[in-house]
This record gives sequence, C-alpha cells and structure tokens, in this order.
Amino acid sequence: MAARAFAAHQRVSDALDRGRAPAASTVVSLSAVHKVFSDGDRRTVALEGIELDIARGAFVSLIGPSGCGKSTLLRLIGDLTPTTSGTITVNGKSAHLARLARDYGIVFQAPVLFDWRSVQRNVELPLELGRLPKAERERRATEMLALVELDGFERHYPWQLSGGMQQRVAIARALSFEPALLLMDEPFGALDEMSRERLNLQLLRVWQKTGTTVVFVTHSIPEAVFLSTHVVVMSPRPGRIVDIIDVDLPQPRNDLTREDPRYFGLVTRVRESLRRRDTHAATDTS
Ligand SMILES: Nc1ncnc2c1ncn2[C@@H]1O[C@H](COP(=O)(O)OP(=O)(O)OP(=O)(O)O)[C@@H](O)[C@H]1O
Ligand SMILES: [Mg+2]
Repeated sequence: MAARAFAAHQRVSDALDRGRAPAASTVVSLSAVHKVFSDGDRRTVALEGIELDIARGAFVSLIGPSGCGKSTLLRLIGDLTPTTSGTITVNGKSAHLARLARDYGIVFQAPVLFDWRSVQRNVELPLELGRLPKAERERRATEMLALVELDGFERHYPWQLSGGMQQRVAIARALSFEPALLLMDEPFGALDEMSRERLNLQLLRVWQKTGTTVVFVTHSIPEAVFLSTHVVVMSPRPGRIVDIIDVDLPQPRNDLTREDPRYFGLVTRVRESLRRRDTHAATDTS
C-alpha cells in the first residue's frame, strides 16, 4: 500500500527562504501517533501512524478530504484531546505541559469572542489570565490590533464587526501573548473569496513579522499553496499523512505569487496527490 511508504519519519524543514537565519529547533514533533474515538461498540480510527516534525518558523498546511482527521490532529497538538498512543512534543515538552505553559495560540473556524467585552478587552483576555500588568496588556493589544489592521476599532464590540473583522480579532488575541506556535483550524472557511485573499496576505505579514510557527487547516488547495512553506496531504479512513509537498515559491508572497507558473504547478501537484489518495482509499475499501 503506497501510504505505508510514508511511514518513515517526515521532517518539515526550516523555512530557509524567509531571509532570516534558520533555527534548527523543532517546534512540533509527532511520533507513532494514533487516535481512536470509542463510543460504546463503535470505534473510529481517526489517525494512524502519524510521523511529523515541524521546524521553527515553518508555515504548514494540513489538507485532505472531510473526516480525514485534520481537526483531530490540530487538537492533539494543542492537547485539547488526548492521543490513544504515540508521543507529541511541543517546544520540547509534552503537548500537555506546552498547553499549561501557553506555548500556542489557537484560532477556530468561527471566532470565539466574548460579546460583552470590547475588541481591545477580547485581545487582552489571555494577557489578563497570564497576569500581565495593565499597561503592558494595553500596549500589546494595541500592537496586535494594528498588525491585523483593526486600529480604531478597539472600543467596538464583536457584534459591531463583520465576520472577517471578528476573525482578525481572534487572530490578534491568539498572537497577543507571543506564542511560539499558532494553530488555525479553517479560520477563513466561512469568508467570501475577496476577504479570504486579503486575510491570507495579512496573516503572511503577521507570520513574517512575528516569526511564529503556523499549523493551518484548510480545504482550499490554492490557499494552502499560497500560504505555506509545506503542504501536508492526508488521506481518510484512517487518517494518514500521504505526502509532504515543499512550497519553494519566493517570499514574501503577494498578489503576483498567484500568477507565477510555479504556483499553478504546485496547485496541480497537491490536487493530484489528493486525487491519487482518493483512488487508493476507494481501492483499499473495495
Ligand atoms: N469527539 C469525537 N468523537 C467521535 N468521533 C470523532 C470525534 N471527533 C472526530 N471524530 C471522528 O474522527 C474522524 C476525523 O474527524 P475530524 O473532525 O478530525 O476530521 P476533519 O479532517 O477535520 O474533517 P472536516 O474537514 O470535515 O473538518 C471523523 O471520522 C470523525 O467522525
Ligand atoms: Mg475539521
């Protein structure tokens, strides 16, 4: 079975072309990770034999058909759900200790904001929990809101903002405590194409500026190629990593990137990898 060929340890290398000295350290490491959901007699093998290392500064997209385990993988890294077996380290610690140390920020598909808190105070929330002094909280929240181009909206409430603006508040909040790792589960899935492309550019700017490592779940092949240094292709039933595609397009990416013939080539490569996996999955189960 071709999928087994990928059982060897896979390393997502440093983003060498980002114009900064690459750090050798690995931010996320998954080894022999399995995840089975059990509900009475029903067992769902959500992930099997996941081997993946993600180096500092990489922008990694997870792509694959619905139900292949992308969200589960992200939740395992974030210690929001336990593994069935295997090991996960984040910043050299267990995923659990990394969560307690607040080594990552997380952004979900729907922005989880508190309607009774202003935009500024939503962004400050993790800093309040971290007991940062008020002046420092305010300074950081202001800086992060400027980074996602929401300066001037500090005193607004979430319900006074568009969906895309709310998602940018969620991104600012996830970045406010300067996490080494940003986990994002289809953060722009509900947005129209124009807003999505704009937010993609803003996210890349934030990534370049902060040097954070990003793990990004998406259903969109063009979005995965545009944003990432590496695209991880997954297959369903059970979820496995079947391909890791290096996206060696120049940085920083911009609107011209989408017109680059190499961009189209990579989009086709990811699409073919996904299609190949679909064919194999259909064969495996027949
Ligand atoms: N809490 C849970 N209890 C039982 N089964 C679950 C649970 N969460 C996920 N699963 C199962 O695990 C598998 C992977 O689900 P997951 O949500 O990770 O997929 P996904 O790739 O994120 O899909 P989508 O693209 O639709 O968001 C699916 O078969 C799903 O039914
Ligand atoms: Mg999902």
